[in-house]
Amino acid sequence: MDGKQKAVWITGASSGIGKALSYEFAKSGFNVLGTARRIELLEEIKSELKEFSNNFHPFQLDVTGYNSIEKFYNEISKLYQVDCLINNAGMTSFKNAVDNSIDEIQKIVETNLLGSIYTIKTVLPDMIEQCGGTIINILSVVTQKIFTASSAYSASKSGLQAYTKVLREEVRDKNIHIINVSPGATVTPIWSDGVLNKYSDRMMKPENIARLILKLYSEKDNFVTEEVVIRPIKGDL
Ligand SMILES: NC(=O)c1ccc[n+]([C@@H]2O[C@H](COP(=O)([O-])OP(=O)(O)OC[C@H]3O[C@@H](n4cnc5c(N)ncnc54)[C@H](OP(=O)(O)O)[C@@H]3O)[C@@H](O)[C@H]2O)c1
Repeated sequence: MDGKQKAVWITGASSGIGKALSYEFAKSGFNVLGTARRIELLEEIKSELKEFSNNFHPFQLDVTGYNSIEKFYNEISKLYQVDCLINNAGMTSFKNAVDNSIDEIQKIVETNLLGSIYTIKTVLPDMIEQCGGTIINILSVVTQKIFTASSAYSASKSGLQAYTKVLREEVRDKNIHIINVSPGATVTPIWSDGVLNKYSDRMMKPENIARLILKLYSEKDNFVTEEVVIRPIKGDL
């Protein structure tokens, strides 16, 4: 990793929590590799951030394709050492199990669960070799509590939690910090306009989630904050 600049790779950086994370980390001086499918939104973030910093680097990447993730990682790791991966890309459908099509279920699991496992698989060998790194997974309060109309989503988030809990034990002696963050309702475009109009006052702001995640990443001692649940003070919707 000699001579390479450290970077934070944020998936799903084009919108919502990922966009807030991009601002928070880039404004704090970190090199941010922001990936998502909508490159035009990432380019907008880059130009909005120009007045503060020049360290947001946008890349088009769909997390459901392992080969393109591996290709992306091989390219960027010629220049950067990914010190932190934030698995944030995610989607849901808000439908009961009986109404979810197979296509919808596949997309949810491929994006939220497999996509995150693919990115982890690409960064892990280097993190093990350099004996350090941080992997932050944006889960959800569905890992804590039952919400109807969220079966595939809950399976994907709880699946990623199970995967990363096992991984955490496997790499304990490698100084790799694995932090699972489970937020409750947050104002982002993942919600319908109807929900946002009705509840946005009591929902959390993505900027506050991003600020907390930066703090968690910045703790560099012989401990790790393993699992974090963040809820609106008034509780779940
Ligand atoms: N908002 C909440 O209340 C809440 C609560 C708990 C957890 N979360 C989690 O927080 C994360 C961010 O969601 P959000 O609320 O900020 O929603 P959002 O505004 O809809 O953002 C989702 C992000 O994921 C990206 N994405 C989706 N599919 C992708 C794919 N196949 N490849 C690459 N990127 C993909 C989107 O980018 P492109 O479309 O440009 O690819 C977008 O940047 C998700 O994992 C979500 O489950 C949200």
